[in-house]
Amino acid sequence: MSFFENTRKPIGLGGKIMVAMMNLGHSPVARWGLYFLELAPDAKVLDCGCGGGANIKRLLKKCPEGIVKGIDYSPVSVEKSKKVNETAIVEGRCAVLQGSVADMMFVDNWFDAVTAFETVYFWPDLPQCFREVYRVLKPGGTLLICNESNGDTDKDEKWTEIIGGMTIYKDAELKTYLEQAGFHDVQIHKKKSWLCITAWK
Ligand SMILES: C[S@@+](CC[C@H](N)C(=O)[O-])C[C@H]1O[C@@H](n2cnc3c(N)ncnc32)[C@H](O)[C@@H]1O
Repeated sequence: MSFFENTRKPIGLGGKIMVAMMNLGHSPVARWGLYFLELAPDAKVLDCGCGGGANIKRLLKKCPEGIVKGIDYSPVSVEKSKKVNETAIVEGRCAVLQGSVADMMFVDNWFDAVTAFETVYFWPDLPQCFREVYRVLKPGGTLLICNESNGDTDKDEKWTEIIGGMTIYKDAELKTYLEQAGFHDVQIHKKKSWLCITAWK
């Protein structure tokens, strides 16, 4: 297994190094993407594929009276996210759970917003995962997807060749899947090779 496979599912020592690297390396695209997400101070937010938890921390800052939960199927990611957000967890404002986005343990219509940074590339059954995200969002809630690779350049192939199970989606493909899951007002934002999509339930 190559070190870069840890982006799909961090495991072992390589995974621990990767989640720490992603917390730093994904910071510019995440900061840009978060600009498109409006949140009330007391919002309930879910970060899917939360990795090392840096975005949970940013979301907690963005909604200081709110609750932010994270889900990731990698125990290494869950452990790191918990460590990074230890204080908020103790305060009861944050929880990080291990599980797949395809079948989540959350009740229907609970979250004001769901975020997915650098992770939809790896979701095994994208239509099913989008239906799950739709289910847990409140009516009127927002999904934010933020990807460093938008599928428009040849450079993207470099990643799909070395990371098994990775698909880099173009904006139109994601829009189609989102609308099929029931989302509306799908908005597409681009900068450099980055892609950010917002969609409403
Ligand atoms: C490239 S990392 C991105 C981590 C973090 N969101 C960031 O931007 O730094 C992808 C993360 O998504 C998680 N992941 C991928 N597919 C998943 C799925 N179906 N369910 C839950 N987590 C998933 C991986 O375990 C990994 O932690």
